[in-house]
Amino acid sequence: MPAVTGSGPVAAMIHTEINGVSLPVLGFGTYHLTGPEGVKAIRHALDLGYRYLDTATRYGNEEEVGQAIAESGIDRDRIFLATKLRYVDLDPATIEDRVKESLARLRVDHVDLLMPHWPSPTIPVAPIMEAFARVRDKGYATHIGVSNFPTDLMREAIKAFDGPIFSNQVEYHPFIAQSAVLDQLRSHGILLTAAVPLARGAIDDEPVIREIAESYGKTTAQITLRWLIQQPGVTAIPKSGQPERIRQNLEIFDFALSEDEMARIGALQRNLRLVDVSWAPVWDAPG
Ligand SMILES: NC(=O)c1ccc[n+]([C@@H]2O[C@H](COP(=O)([O-])OP(=O)(O)OC[C@H]3O[C@@H](n4cnc5c(N)ncnc54)[C@H](OP(=O)(O)O)[C@@H]3O)[C@@H](O)[C@H]2O)c1
Repeated sequence: MPAVTGSGPVAAMIHTEINGVSLPVLGFGTYHLTGPEGVKAIRHALDLGYRYLDTATRYGNEEEVGQAIAESGIDRDRIFLATKLRYVDLDPATIEDRVKESLARLRVDHVDLLMPHWPSPTIPVAPIMEAFARVRDKGYATHIGVSNFPTDLMREAIKAFDGPIFSNQVEYHPFIAQSAVLDQLRSHGILLTAAVPLARGAIDDEPVIREIAESYGKTTAQITLRWLIQQPGVTAIPKSGQPERIRQNLEIFDFALSEDEMARIGALQRNLRLVDVSWAPVWDAPG
């Protein structure tokens, strides 16, 4: 397959099948993409061919995402739209109200994927997942996933939730292995969505990734994204505000890494966790 260059849409996105849905393995992260510049970047991503957008109430940009979708002219049912509720908005009695507010900001009548952004440090998993199921049953979200759930809380979520859980969005890049999380998700047919897939740029300083990148004539970001989406059950949502990088991150479907290269990148893990917060759960042991 030839490398895709130029200014037109980038072709050849790979999809993965999950819960009867054909999901692009590469989505577009929108953290920090706010204001007119944010709308422009998200529009650019849609124009190039990204069809999976990841936002969150906490990013303060659901309006921008909604505006970009509306302006793009792309049919709503051709875009997979994911958002997350803040951990402070997980009171089961008011989850539906918070979701409706998100939908209004996004200018849509449903999202394709809805997640708690973090587990609540005060409210147990079961009533939260039950409230998310009710929101799904009312048609406000097609699928329910979770985010930042270690394996013990995921076990509770699977037990409490009526139906299949779609995905767990967690930090995943070459410097953090997430083996326990991955094993659990694969055994249940649940996707892992790799947040922070480029380790916020740290991958660019890594000699092994640089060497592999040079051998393919690709960038370190492209090699890293390819490494992620080449793993079964893994999707990735890189963010960029720069048009060239938005395109570059999409140009990863014209080559494949060898088993040896996959293993060499996998061996770089050093439990580097870039996203940690005071309300974070107890994470799984490194490895
Ligand atoms: N669930 C969660 O708790 C959680 C946490 C964090 C993130 N996320 C999601 O995951 C998405 C991605 O994470 P992230 O934005 O934190 O980090 P990231 O995607 O790993 O890295 C983004 C950074 O890398 C730069 N970059 C992007 N493409 C590049 C390229 N081709 N070459 C060199 N540098 C490049 C960007 O700069 P420029 O913009 O200047 O290009 C930005 O500084 C977020 O947008 C969000 O949707 C979820």
